[in-house]
Amino acid sequence: MNDFSFYSPTRIVFGRGVTDKVGAHLAEAEYTKALVVFGQGSVVRTGTLDRVKASLDQAGISHVELGGVRPNPEIGLVRQGIELARSEQVDVVLPVGGGSAMDCAKAIALGVPYDGDVWDFFVRGVKPAAHVPVAAVVTIPASGSEASNSSVISNDAEHLKSGINTDLNRPVISFLDPELTFTLPPYQTAAGATDIMSHVMERFFSGEPGVPVTDHIACGIIRSVIETAPRALEDPSDYDARANLMWAGTLAHNGLAGCGTNIPGKRDGDWTCHGLEHELSALDTGITHGAGLAVIFPAWMRYVWREHPERFLSFAYEVFEIEPVDESDEAIEDAVTATIDELQEFFVSLGMPRTLGELGVHEEDIDKMLPGLKINRGEVFGSFKQLTLDDARAIYASAL
Ligand code: NZQ
Ligand code: ZN
Repeated sequence: MNDFSFYSPTRIVFGRGVTDKVGAHLAEAEYTKALVVFGQGSVVRTGTLDRVKASLDQAGISHVELGGVRPNPEIGLVRQGIELARSEQVDVVLPVGGGSAMDCAKAIALGVPYDGDVWDFFVRGVKPAAHVPVAAVVTIPASGSEASNSSVISNDAEHLKSGINTDLNRPVISFLDPELTFTLPPYQTAAGATDIMSHVMERFFSGEPGVPVTDHIACGIIRSVIETAPRALEDPSDYDARANLMWAGTLAHNGLAGCGTNIPGKRDGDWTCHGLEHELSALDTGITHGAGLAVIFPAWMRYVWREHPERFLSFAYEVFEIEPVDESDEAIEDAVTATIDELQEFFVSLGMPRTLGELGVHEEDIDKMLPGLKINRGEVFGSFKQLTLDDARAIYASAL
């Protein structure tokens, strides 16, 4: 097991009705004024926003609002939010929504005390030194942003989607009320489930040797998603299915599922599939992150598995109970191929795409994505198998 540093400072307040207790918790933590950040209307339509605001009012916490965060949130709104947070002197930023609202809020929080342009953190390597605390009300299990150290923001003018990882990005408190997720459209439920599994798989296939305790946690999270996502799709109000998915989403991306599988001193996980997907959603901001991953992950797996077949066999057994019939190369290839096929069929069964074509991405688009990939990942990337931009081109092409 490699040495690691696990830091997950976020308090998770989980369960029915926690939406109405947001104000009380924030008051207890001595916050006095919140910038409430939300998306394109779902929290207005469902009444969630009103519930959160009522609980703030009840607790004596004043608040201002910034709505309209789109999926794949854009830097322009982040800049507006920074101005608003400064002029209103808020002491906490409170996203109510999914990864997009949360990441927009995190970026605002980093930008408030910074003299330069907040985009410096995303592509110019500037390290943030301070922030305004973030608390989050989560409405979709997917990004894991509620406990992660990441914020991912798009810059339309520069055709980029880039992330900043810093412990400052970890929310101080996140509210997870599974009942809020009953209203999710099936496509978003499915894309969220895919993203959750991907956060675990990025870590599992890190290139480092297995760590039994971490592997069991990782594969347990994946098995739980495979069990509960179809139930949530069949019955959107199945509380236990929704609750298990929601908790899986947090555990998949707070770092727990990767302890000891990191290259010493570096981030846990490979993260190539996220890199390849972020270029898809930079190319077309209408592409849902999880849907892009449903196409990219199996394609990447087929391309790289020979580098460490033993990790694939371990995944095959723990997740799908697939074993090679003997130790021959053919039997191993059959078992790995069956595993990747089964994973891809699961994504498709949820309603996710199989090909880039289904996402509207075609051969002529591939070369448009490589410059962004080079900026975000460099010319050589990946830890399971080191890849180049030519490999990236081949993986995209294999998924057309
Ligand atoms: O915008 P509204 O109207 O709120 O609608 C949203 C949006 O259309 C809707 N929705 C959310 N909760 C709902 C709901 N509709 C009905 N009922 C509810 N309860 O769902 C759509 C998707 O929302 P979004 O916030 O975009 O989803 P998600 O949580 O998947 O976030 C995706 C973003 O997170 C980034 C992705 O790249 C993408 O930009 N990620 C962030 C990570 C992080 N910070 O750690 C890690 C991830 O790997 C990912 O990269
Ligand atoms: Zn993701």
